[in-house]
Amino acid sequence: MDNFLFVLGRNFRLSLAELDNILKNSQFKGRIIDYSANIAVVEFISLHNDKYYINKLMELQFLLGGCQKIAKIYDFINIRDIHNAFPLKIDKYKLVEKARKKILHILGKVLEQIFPKLKSQSIFFAVSIYPNLFEDEYYSRVLVKHFLPFLNKEIMNILKEKEVKKSLYYEYPEENIKSGNLNPIFPHHLIKYGLFNEDRAEIIFGFTEEGVYIARTFTADDPNFKKKIDEERPFKEFKSSISPKLALMMFNFLNLFQERETKKILDPFVGNGTILLFALLQDFQIYGADFDQAKINNTIRNIIWLLEEIEEPIPPRSLLEERIQNIDIGDLSKHFQPNFFDGVVTEPSLGPFYKNKPYYIQAKDIIDTELEPLYVLIFREIYKVLKPKGRICITAPIIETIDGGDIQLNVNKIAINNKFQPINMIDSKRIINKSNIKLQFQKQDLKNLIDAKKDQILKRKIYVYEKQD
Ligand SMILES: C[S@@+](CC[C@H](N)C(=O)[O-])C[C@H]1O[C@@H](n2cnc3c(N)ncnc32)[C@H](O)[C@@H]1O
Repeated sequence: MDNFLFVLGRNFRLSLAELDNILKNSQFKGRIIDYSANIAVVEFISLHNDKYYINKLMELQFLLGGCQKIAKIYDFINIRDIHNAFPLKIDKYKLVEKARKKILHILGKVLEQIFPKLKSQSIFFAVSIYPNLFEDEYYSRVLVKHFLPFLNKEIMNILKEKEVKKSLYYEYPEENIKSGNLNPIFPHHLIKYGLFNEDRAEIIFGFTEEGVYIARTFTADDPNFKKKIDEERPFKEFKSSISPKLALMMFNFLNLFQERETKKILDPFVGNGTILLFALLQDFQIYGADFDQAKINNTIRNIIWLLEEIEEPIPPRSLLEERIQNIDIGDLSKHFQPNFFDGVVTEPSLGPFYKNKPYYIQAKDIIDTELEPLYVLIFREIYKVLKPKGRICITAPIIETIDGGDIQLNVNKIAINNKFQPINMIDSKRIINKSNIKLQFQKQDLKNLIDAKKDQILKRKIYVYEKQD
């Protein structure tokens, strides 16, 4: 089996949409053939035949905002066999024993592939389990308490049989195993424990409704690097900042995968420049605007800081000031030439930052008097400066109210009125059906997806549009 397992980000629908779009439209052609709330299984058309496919996986990992790790799949065990070996309640010991033997046989074969040299070697491994859904009872009661200890013990036994010199495994805290609440190995631990070395590995057991995929991790996201940029840049404001991961995902919906260094990207609401900083790292030519001169200065300062950090040459200040300008959105087209930009990624003002839920009429008033006129200007102006068929990926708020549920702006109507075509974020023809409703994509998800943490009053909705002729 030459398929790969992608560990998804916190918002799995958004992560799947991003991944599917890349597999459909970039040079990394392929398909998601199975998924859960934590993993996607990907079959590439040709990537796996490349001699240096691990380098390609690293490139892909760097592009993706919603992917924590990429692992190569070595085997698969049907869910029925897993349930026979590890039932919620054991009645028939004979059946359990027989089913476990079958798993042991598969484990033996997988270990020989993960560690081609075993005899006289010192081996270290870490088992990570990604369930279908973390809230599944089967995860806390069976996978954490029985399947994980079984794997650790039996992998140690198999390694001993294969005459390794020494073997060790990553031990999760006992209290987490007891409570059934475990975090799989964090991406930054993979580097810390040297799990990409030949004699060390993270072995992932990734569950879907179909069964469990057994894989070895080859690449991981570098969250510390993103965190450093986000937290250590000279100017930051967490309340109003978009997350680095979301910014990366938004670039990928523009479908600009080839020759990024020639593509001009605009953020007309730069704030402290989060979007531009990550666009710079993705090699885009960056342009920005904001009606607040202090924000322009902050963004320029942050860009210089980032270039110093990554040891890249600093362009003359005049060039930066030409590219990042103090402009009110209503005047944007007076400052940039028509059809100039290849893509726009932006988060306009989200309205007030609510500590408590507002009343419906308060939120409605903000939407009607502030946000709607602002978004009308955005689409009118962006239409002029964007290339034909160019895309805009934009966020808009959903506000949860005390007395009227969620309220939001009709972004589609405004975009369509300004000759933009809504682009579905996920292609319904390419998604596999799942029986659990928690894993399904609803009709509205296809058009746009939400990025929000639990109990957040103000949620972000993400939209993609293409400029029509
Ligand atoms: C939500 S913040 C953007 C934050 C940015 N994405 C970040 O992560 O740092 C919105 C920015 O839009 C700017 N802004 C609001 N209304 C504007 C307008 N009419 N024209 C230009 N900029 C505007 C504000 O000054 C603010 O910096």
